[in-house]
Amino acid sequence: MPLNPDRMPLCIRSAVENDLPALASLDAEAFPMEPYPFFVLRQFFDVYRDHLLVLDDGRLLHGYLIATPPDAGLSWILSLGVTPDSRGHGLGRWLMVQSLGQLRSERAHEVRLTVDPDNDRAVSLYAHLGFTQTGDVQKDYLGPGKHRILMTLELPDSAAPPPETPPSAPSARVNSGRQGGPRRSW
Ligand SMILES: CC(C)(COP(=O)(O)OP(=O)(O)OC[C@H]1O[C@@H](n2cnc3c(N)ncnc32)[C@H](O)[C@@H]1OP(=O)(O)O)[C@@H](O)C(=O)NCCC(=O)NCCS
Repeated sequence: MPLNPDRMPLCIRSAVENDLPALASLDAEAFPMEPYPFFVLRQFFDVYRDHLLVLDDGRLLHGYLIATPPDAGLSWILSLGVTPDSRGHGLGRWLMVQSLGQLRSERAHEVRLTVDPDNDRAVSLYAHLGFTQTGDVQKDYLGPGKHRILMTLELPDSAAPPPETPPSAPSARVNSGRQGGPRRSW
């Protein structure tokens, strides 16, 4: 569903249990080739709900991100997806910036993710956020033919306040990881 400026302002918030059906639909839109089975989303929600962020316009979800809380300072971004109609408005970047701000406030010092080397948009997004490639392309990382690159962001100890600047999407406000035939990239 495209963004509609007549709707409530967009906000990013933690997921709640009632979001799960919409989250499954959103994931299937963002990753049509390899959507998560519902039970996987259910378990991510159970384990990581405070780090499962959704982008909500008051009626529909347009994007989501799942991160892991810092473990000895290390966090992973497990998934990032924006619905096709809502892409290119800075929403993926906004989700990442919000999550990184949260992780920084929780004293993460390193954030990792993996991405399909052919997923130019995602690789570009992460690079612009300061992630750098670690090592060579990891062949068959997610199974035969599913190569991935590992990208890492170091977070400084002296935490800058989390950026609060919303993207250029209409009426966006702040409230509180496949491309080229979308395939799950981490
Ligand atoms: C990757 C994805 C989350 C990006 O979300 P988005 O809302 O479209 O991204 P944004 O508008 O915030 O733009 C993010 C970056 O993409 C790049 N980008 C934006 N529009 C683009 C376009 N039309 N073509 C190529 N790259 C583009 C830019 O580099 C931008 O970074 P910048 O703002 O630092 O310049 C989204 O495309 C998506 O859900 N894709 C399918 C699922 C997927 O691949 N997830 C990532 C798994 S690793």
